[in-house]
Amino acid sequence: MKTETTIQGLTASLSPARSSRKIIGFVPTMGNLHEGHLNLVREARRLCDVVVVSIFVNPIQFGPNEDFENYPRTLEHDSHLLAEVGCDIVFAPSVEQMYGHKPRLTNISVSDITNDLCGLQRPGHFDGVAVVVTKLFNMVQPNFAFFGQKDYQQLAVIRQFVRDLNIPLEVIGVPITRATDGLALSSRNGYLTEEQRKTAPIIFQSLKEAEQQLKQAVNLAEVLENIKQTLTQAGFIVDYVEARTLDLDKIEVFNQDVVLFVAAKLGTTRLIDNLQVKYTA
Ligand code: PAF
Repeated sequence: MKTETTIQGLTASLSPARSSRKIIGFVPTMGNLHEGHLNLVREARRLCDVVVVSIFVNPIQFGPNEDFENYPRTLEHDSHLLAEVGCDIVFAPSVEQMYGHKPRLTNISVSDITNDLCGLQRPGHFDGVAVVVTKLFNMVQPNFAFFGQKDYQQLAVIRQFVRDLNIPLEVIGVPITRATDGLALSSRNGYLTEEQRKTAPIIFQSLKEAEQQLKQAVNLAEVLENIKQTLTQAGFIVDYVEARTLDLDKIEVFNQDVVLFVAAKLGTTRLIDNLQVKYTA
C-alpha cells in the first residue's frame, strides 16, 4: 500500500492503473476509521481493481462551533487498518495541498435537499462537502465512489451534484454498519462517555420500535412524536426526528417507503441515524 500526500504523487501512483484502464474505486473519509469505513473499502475492493482511500479532515464542512480542531487525526492507525483490508493507495493531503494559498472563489451548492434535516442545523456544511468531494473526484478520477448510508442526506447531495454536473463516475451507497447493540458506527461515538455509550443504542431501538408501530398502522406523526419522547426521556437533546420519502420529500402519511431520520445530542456529541421502512399495501 502506498501513501501519497500530494496531488502530484497521487497522479503518479495512479498513472499505471489509468493507462491500463483498470477500474478505480474511491472511498473518501476524514480518517479515525472504524468498521463502517472498512466495509466501504471492502466493497470497493470487491468491485474494483485499484482502491484509493482519502483521509482529509475538511475544514470547510465544519461550522465555527463544531469539532474541526478536536477531530481525531489517527493516520498511522488508519493506515494499518487500510492495509489489512486491501487498500492500494492512501491519499492524505494537507489543508494547503487541498486548498492552496489563494482564496477559493468557487462554491458548489445543491439547493432544496440541503435546506432540510442536517442542512438546517449545519449551515454551509453540505457546500463544504460538495466542494471537497468534487475536488477529490477530480484528483482521483475514479470509476466508482463509495459512501455510507448513515449519512443519507450527504449521499443524496453527492448523487445530485454528480448527476447535475455530469461527473463521470458511479456513486455506490453502502448500508449502515452497526455495533452489536445497534448503534450506528461513527467516528464521533468515540466522544461518548461510558455512560452515554450505554444510552446511545436507544436511537436505533426507537427507530425499530417506530418501524413496528408504522406496520401496525399507528399514524406517522404519532410515531415520530413517540421517538422524540423516548429519546428525551433517555436524556438526549433532540435536534430533529423526521420522516421523508426515499428522495427526501416531505411525507405526512405512511403510504410509500419512508426513511426515518434522527439527529440528537448526548452531552455535546451529536449523533445521527436513519432507518428505511418499507411500505406494503
Ligand atoms: O462523510 C465524510 O466522512 C465526509 O463528509 C467526506 C465525504 C469524506 C467529505 O469530507
